[in-house]
Amino acid sequence: MKKNPLFVAVSNQKGGVGKSTMLVTLASLLNYSMDKSVAIVDCDSTQRSLFNLRERDMEMVEKNKKYMVLLEEQRLRGCRIYPIRQAKPENARQVAGELAAKADFDIVFIDLPGSMDISGVLQTIFNVDYVLTPIAADNFVMDSSFVFAKSVMKFLENRKNIPLKDVFLFWTKVKKRSNTEVLDNYMALMKKQGLKILDSAIPDLCRYDKELSSRTRTYFRCSLLPPPAGQLKGSGLQELANELIVKFNL
Ligand SMILES: Nc1ncnc2c1ncn2[C@@H]1O[C@H](COP(=O)(O)OP(=O)(O)O)[C@@H](O)[C@H]1O
Ligand SMILES: [Mg+2]
Repeated sequence: MKKNPLFVAVSNQKGGVGKSTMLVTLASLLNYSMDKSVAIVDCDSTQRSLFNLRERDMEMVEKNKKYMVLLEEQRLRGCRIYPIRQAKPENARQVAGELAAKADFDIVFIDLPGSMDISGVLQTIFNVDYVLTPIAADNFVMDSSFVFAKSVMKFLENRKNIPLKDVFLFWTKVKKRSNTEVLDNYMALMKKQGLKILDSAIPDLCRYDKELSSRTRTYFRCSLLPPPAGQLKGSGLQELANELIVKFNL
């Protein structure tokens, strides 16, 4: 029987928080290492889109034998490359549904642009099962994330019969020396307002910026291969994936 996948949007009021990076590293970990089948709908039309990342990844694999071998091993294990489809925000949920009709997925992710003002963003949010909102630990971003999550929750209260079940926030780009007291206070405030914050937090690490390259050996952000085990340690990503599997009942 065909699976009904979960539809999960990654969204925030602000760009540059790390939405796309978190989404693609999480998707690759789930799909290539954790036996969960995923797909991505990409609503970003800029150079930083995941669709473009996939193209860069493909080019690097073609140029580099080492990556080609890894990919071939993965294929032989029966692990398939997940699709990344482009869509406008207003069509994202429809495109996600079309993907789900063609193959069995556990999760279809939607990478939304960093603004609710763009046409179709709210409509898409209401029509997914869950929204994931990364919050970077910097005052300005915290405020805008808070406003974003609050307004989605408010809409949620007013509209009972929509697919959206929950909005989960999680900390990202947490600096080693960040003031935990500020974060704790902020967290208490968010919880008081009924917002849900995941236990897992993602540290600020330059590995999140590392793509396949012919110059260096290490990579982390990749749409064709999982984050390498050695790099995964300390990244917070495995903990996030584990927590989401429980929260999403997968
Ligand atoms: N955990 C992290 N630690 C350090 N840098 C990060 C982290 N997550 C994302 N970044 C960097 O932040 C920048 C913005 O990330 P991106 O995923 O494009 O954000 P968004 O999709 O929200 O606009 C990129 O340069 C990315 O490499
Ligand atoms: Mg992005």
